[in-house]
This record gives sequence, structure tokens and C-alpha cells, in this order.
Amino acid sequence: MTDAVALATDTHPHPNPRVGAIVLSADGQLVAQHAHAGPGAPHAEAAALADAGDRARGGTLIVTLEPCSHRGHTAPCVDAIVSAGVARVLAGPVDPDPRVAGRGFAALEAAGVAVERDVDGGTVAAMDPGYFIHRATARPMFTIKIAMTLDGQVAALDGTSQWLTSAEARLDAHRLRASVDGVMVGAGTVRADDPLLSVRLPNYAGPQPMPLLIAGRNPLPKTARVYERGPIIYRPEVHGDEPQDAEVVAAWSPNGVDLTAMAKDIASRGMLHVLVEGGPTLARSMLEANLVDELVVYVGASLAGGGGAAPFAGGFESISAATEMALIDVARFGPDVRLTYRTEDG
Ligand SMILES: NC(=O)c1ccc[n+]([C@@H]2O[C@H](COP(=O)([O-])OP(=O)(O)OC[C@H]3O[C@@H](n4cnc5c(N)ncnc54)[C@H](OP(=O)(O)O)[C@@H]3O)[C@@H](O)[C@H]2O)c1
Repeated sequence: MTDAVALATDTHPHPNPRVGAIVLSADGQLVAQHAHAGPGAPHAEAAALADAGDRARGGTLIVTLEPCSHRGHTAPCVDAIVSAGVARVLAGPVDPDPRVAGRGFAALEAAGVAVERDVDGGTVAAMDPGYFIHRATARPMFTIKIAMTLDGQVAALDGTSQWLTSAEARLDAHRLRASVDGVMVGAGTVRADDPLLSVRLPNYAGPQPMPLLIAGRNPLPKTARVYERGPIIYRPEVHGDEPQDAEVVAAWSPNGVDLTAMAKDIASRGMLHVLVEGGPTLARSMLEANLVDELVVYVGASLAGGGGAAPFAGGFESISAATEMALIDVARFGPDVRLTYRTEDG
């Protein structure tokens, strides 16, 4: 299963899940392996079985997700598994997609295939967390990324924040961008930093995440580098003079953009995981809207030595207002540390 997960890691099949599959012959030899490439492409297990041909008979299929039993762009994988004569299936978690949701396992067992389910389920979910959150909640997973000084400042009083962390940490942040479908900032970050929001990694040839901008009622800059990337701009209402090449979506609420409606719209476009790289205002809005699934904090090895801007805007009124988080990973990049947290119920 570790090898099957490795096959699917770093693939870009969204809105479909990342899936890896391995076929072993009856005597345990590796005969085929595949990862799913995305909508319209064969599913990982169907492709691996097609490659394996007769060598799959009496063998084992290892697949990171429950095989499908419905006809979508492609024929049901359960049919391919049964007709290939596979004796045993070792699978990851139940596919939370309502069209599958246990039916694949049930159909395999009904056909006499031995099924071991939820093998390394946690590892599989961690390889494609956006898929599981999207199918369970009909909204994308939101990861808030923050770079801050050792004493918790994300910008100086003059608005400068480039750079609070080392080149090593910033390279890792680009790897994070490469793993998501969209990168979001608020208008304040567009004004202050003029970010491109693109993946800039050596030899990167994968898709670029969609730039997503959240704007209130103040004018956006006339020119910004991100406009060239055809961003989607969410604002309370559409203005007359919006940037060319941007798609503007109105999502009105009394407090600005209706972030729940925004999340639904992003999900409906097939984006399963969004990295939020905005400033303190957007981070606070996302937290208040209950749209923080994960927090990635890069702590730079520098001391601000005073108050500029904290990662989340607004006041911290009382200790009871704090949100409990669960630490899931600690990593070091040059002089900096990356801390990854999930919300407790996430
Ligand atoms: N260290 C880091 O990780 C990091 C990351 C990003 C930015 N920064 C720094 O943060 C500073 C900018 O902070 P910021 O708080 O202004 O940035 P921001 O949160 O990216 O942008 C704030 C703006 O976004 C819009 N906005 C956010 N939430 C909204 C909502 N729910 N509804 C409607 N509009 C909403 C508003 O636009 P309108 O103005 O149009 O109302 C708001 O003024 C800069 O100094 C930048 O360098 C630091």
C-alpha cells in the first residue's frame, strides 16, 4: 500500500481522487502499476489490470481507494476486477463519493473476491485530503498558510513582509502550491505584495493552481501581475471597472463576501483543495466562517521585536475564544520550521 500511495502522490487528477493501483500475480510478483490521471482517463486499477492481462488471474490488486461500481466516464472497476479473475483486493478507505460509498466493496464480496478494506486508511487520506473533505462537505479543503517571525508577526507596520522566511522555506511553499487546485489571497495582499500566486519550482511541468482573489468594496489596483493569470475574483457585488481577463463572481453578504457561497462555487468548479495565502483580514474571515481545515505555519528565524501585524486580524478577547488545533507535522527548512495543524474536528 505504501508503494501504491507513492504512485498517486503528486498526481493531479482533481476533481477525481488521487489513486494508485498495483497488481501482483498469484505467486506475488509485481506485474503492473498505475496512477489515475484525471477525468476521462482510465481509473488506476482498470489501467493496471489491462496491463497485467492474464497475469492478474488468482492474484492480488492493491488499490488506494475503494474501486467504483458505477459507470461514469469509464466502465465500473469492479467489473474489470471480477473479469480479470483477481482473488484478493487490498484497498484503502471507502470512497466517500455518494455514487460509490461502500457499493464497490459490497459488489466485490458478492462476486467472491476476498476484500481487505481501509488498509493504511490514514496514509491514503493524508495523500489526498482535499478529496475526502470535498466529498464529505461539498466544499474544498482550505489550508491557511502563514509565514511569520519567531515572535508571531506576519508583516511590519509599513506593510512589508517579503521575506520573513528563508529561500528553503519558500521553495517548500511552492511545493505546497503545486499540490493544490487554487491559491487565494485578499485584495490587501494584492495591493501590498503584487503576488503571481503561481508554482515556480525548477523543472515543474504540472498544472498551475487557479488564482482566487477576495475583494471588498475598495478598488483593486489597475494593474497587478496576477491579472495575467486569469483569476477568479469574489466580491460582494460586481463593479463596472473590473480587471480584464478576470472572472468576477458576486457573493454578497452584510459583512462582505459570503465565504460559504464562495466555497460552494469553488467546489462546483472541481477545485478540491485551496491554499489561502492572504493576510490577517482574510485569515480572520475564513476562521470566522469555519473554513479552516489546516494551518501551515512557517516560523522564520528572525525576531520582529515589536508589534506589526498578527496572523489573524481582530482582537483576542478572552482565552476561551481560542480554537483548539492538532499538531500533525513538524519539518525543518534551512533555519526555519514548518508546523502543520488540523482543526480538531477536521
Ligand atoms: N506573512 C504572511 O504569510 C503574509 C501573507 C499575505 C500577506 N501578508 C501581509 O499582510 C498585509 C496585508 O494584510 P491584509 O489583511 O490587508 O491582506 P488580505 O487579508 O489578503 O486582504 C484583505 C482585504 O481582502 C478583502 N477581504 C478579505 N476578507 C473579505 C471578506 N470576507 N469579504 C470581503 N472582502 C474581504 C478586503 O478587501 P477590500 O480592501 O477591497 O475591502 C480586505 O481589505 C501585507 O502587509 C502583506 O504583506 C503577509
